[in-house]
Amino acid sequence: MFSPVLILLSSFLCHAIVAGRTRVCPFAGILENGAVRYTTFEYPNMISFACNTGFYLNGTSSSQCTEEGKWSPELPVCAAITCPPPPVPKFATLHVHKPSVGNNSLYRDTAVFECLPKYAMFGNNTITCTAHGNWTELPECREVKCPFPTRPDNGFVNYPAKQVLTYKDKATYGCHDTYNLDGPEEVECTKMGNWSAQPSCKASCKLSVKKATVLYQGERVKLQEKFKDGMKHGEKVSFFCKNKEKKCSYTEEAQCIDGTIEIPKCFKEHSSLAFWKTDASDVKPC
Ligand SMILES: *[C@@H]1O[C@H](CO)[C@@H](O)[C@H](O)[C@H]1NC(C)=O
Ligand SMILES: *[C@@H]1O[C@H](CO)[C@@H](O)[C@H](O)[C@H]1NC(C)=O
Ligand SMILES: *[C@@H]1O[C@H](CO)[C@@H](O)[C@H](O)[C@H]1NC(C)=O
Ligand SMILES: *[C@@H]1O[C@H](CO)[C@@H](O)[C@H](O)[C@H]1NC(C)=O
Ligand SMILES: *[C@@H]1O[C@H](CO)[C@@H](O)[C@H](O)[C@H]1NC(C)=O
Repeated sequence: MFSPVLILLSSFLCHAIVAGRTRVCPFAGILENGAVRYTTFEYPNMISFACNTGFYLNGTSSSQCTEEGKWSPELPVCAAITCPPPPVPKFATLHVHKPSVGNNSLYRDTAVFECLPKYAMFGNNTITCTAHGNWTELPECREVKCPFPTRPDNGFVNYPAKQVLTYKDKATYGCHDTYNLDGPEEVECTKMGNWSAQPSCKASCKLSVKKATVLYQGERVKLQEKFKDGMKHGEKVSFFCKNKEKKCSYTEEAQCIDGTIEIPKCFKEHSSLAFWKTDASDVKPC
């Protein structure tokens, strides 16, 4: 019954006895920023080394304890991997970069770029020093132009008075009275070379109905008061209608779309003289 350790030990003892005395090398069980594989530090054993990520072995990956009690070759060290100062892409500036070793960077250090005005970034603005001692892929800065925005019908657009409009330039839209903007007031020249949106002006609706109680955003309102200046494009109201058989009321929605609102056919406007008639909005819901 011999365990591997015992075999190793006995072979070592045999050797030591044959050689006459035990040759021991200096302790080498610790390698800063790395690891050592060993059994013992005695002649004629080999030990081997590996470094942690971000470090490289300056020296050999293994060493032997000689008859003279010295390591051969000499013990290595784990030296930090460094990246040279990062290259700066064309039309970019180095925004954040702190070299950590002289002018160089360590594994995992980062550098951040910014494009010059008018230039848009394609790729990651942040590069990282890799365990290979090089930087991750550089981003690119490209000049981006946008066409001049076109004036919307029944409205206007303002933009910088320049020869060319470029990335991040802004344009603002507005509409003439009774028209409302469909889209954002401000748009921006995107990196795709187009505008973030193309707003247009939509007509508001004049109401043919003189008097009605309607639902607007969940609340009962008087149409003639709430919308006396007309309804804006996109706004919705629900009209009350009567179900004559069941003597109850239900609602139907109507939306103002570019100057037109279709009043639900079921809606009946009573003459103000017909005071004895009950308005649909006063009838219990179906
Ligand atoms: C690498 O080892 C050599 C020889 O021991 C030494 O001169 C050199 O300074 C070491 N380099 C680093 C980066 O530790
Ligand atoms: C860093 O770079 C500057 C400019 O290139 C140079 O003058 C300096 O000697 C460098 N420093 C080190 C520690 O390499
Ligand atoms: C950019 O790179 C950084 C660091 O390498 C990373 O954390 C980030 O997720 C990347 N961003 C994008 C959008 O890929
Ligand atoms: C960095 O070096 C490694 C190993 O040489 C290589 O595979 C990789 O493509 C390099 N990365 C860049 C971004 O150049
Ligand atoms: C801008 O152009 C891109 C690519 O051609 C397209 O996917 C995107 O929808 C456009 N954006 C607008 C707001 O038109």
